[in-house]
Amino acid sequence: MTTASTFTDGLDLTALHRSAGDPLLSSMNFLNEIAGRHPDALSLAAGTPYEGFYDVEDVHRALRVFSDHLRTEQGYDEERVRRTLLQYGRTKGIIHELIARQLSVDEGIQVDPEAVLVTTGCQEALFLTLRLLRRDDRDVLLAVTPAYVGVTGAARLLDLPVHPVAEGPDGVDLDDLRRRIGGARAAGLRPRALYVVPDHANPSGIRMPEPVRRDLLDLAEQQDILLLEDNPYGLFPRRGHRLPTLKALDTARRVVHLGSLAKTVFPGVRIGYAVADQPVGSGPYLADLLAKAKSMVTVNTSPIAQAVAGGRLLEHGCSLVRANEREREVYREGLDRIVGGLARRFPDPSASGVRWNSPEGGFFVVVDVPFDVTDAALERSVRDHRVLWTPLHHFYDAAASETGAGVGPLRCLRLSCSALGPEETEEALDRFAAFVRSA
Ligand SMILES: Cc1ncc(COP(=O)(O)O)c(C=O)c1O
Repeated sequence: MTTASTFTDGLDLTALHRSAGDPLLSSMNFLNEIAGRHPDALSLAAGTPYEGFYDVEDVHRALRVFSDHLRTEQGYDEERVRRTLLQYGRTKGIIHELIARQLSVDEGIQVDPEAVLVTTGCQEALFLTLRLLRRDDRDVLLAVTPAYVGVTGAARLLDLPVHPVAEGPDGVDLDDLRRRIGGARAAGLRPRALYVVPDHANPSGIRMPEPVRRDLLDLAEQQDILLLEDNPYGLFPRRGHRLPTLKALDTARRVVHLGSLAKTVFPGVRIGYAVADQPVGSGPYLADLLAKAKSMVTVNTSPIAQAVAGGRLLEHGCSLVRANEREREVYREGLDRIVGGLARRFPDPSASGVRWNSPEGGFFVVVDVPFDVTDAALERSVRDHRVLWTPLHHFYDAAASETGAGVGPLRCLRLSCSALGPEETEEALDRFAAFVRSA
């Protein structure tokens, strides 16, 4: 007797998890794939950090600084230093105290280091948090939309529906949030948390004003939802001072704060973290339950990577603000260059129909254009003008739209200021302007 096989002509996609065939999960690779086919194209699409300051020698030095810290500050003998760096280690991480100190120095966030879980990138922190928040089919995530594709993709892997909440000019439309929570509850669903990037959001670049942050915290308390605050760009304001994070204002432990060192150390270190100080179960913290989940996913975050990140923190008195003074200047100039460069190339927005925002920091500018911004338009831009950018429809979850067919063609796109140097940015903007005129 033979049993039915799902592997007669290779694996049947429909026999795999639904996410396997979901175009949403191809979104990140789509841009890489186009860039790979056109190596001479300049990228205003990539949100990758500027590489001009990177030096492999910094990695060796940071590793030495951290090892010396273990010997001199922590009093470890050589065997313990070796074990700490080279063995399996503590699931919650080995640089949790340094991260807690950095949050205190730079953000005014006072948190018990035991409530900090060090993860393999912010993405893992996000994934683990969503994992725990989905108990059954009734649970849904709210996300300020347009949203970073990493959150919608992670939710998709976990069968957690994402309900969009309008962003508005202030980073979250609180009336829409109230409506969405009410609507979900009326439909028998449990909205568990709102995902939000209050500082220089990806893709919109919008920063949430401080009074709106306070109102959002109040609303979260009234409505009994958590806030998942993702903060990879907060240390890069364009000018002036930074605003307090939601976590710094959070007196009721409503906020799970997700951090990434990808932009403030470098992406290859793959270090992120969750600050999850909510008391729960035998606890003491939500971070402990996230750690149990982590022990079944990545076991523990590479201690070598943590040591490099830890060394960088130690070199700058646990201040990433201090560590990133040059970077902050580069990104400030980059945003100025894009915003000013668009103004020079499209001096009369009402005639050209080309408009853009002027973000207060971060990496991204959103441009409205008078034509449909499809993936095919991007293909034309790369083929005929050798310039890449990101269509904004990638930041909308098709499954969450009323028809399930997506938002339809949008007339906006995202430019990033981070990856290219000054001359390349000017050249990329020339190519972009030529593309827009031709379209
Ligand atoms: C909003 C947002 N969150 C998280 C991440 C990813 O962070 P990590 O590289 O630490 O996983 C990114 C990267 O682009 C991002 O834009």
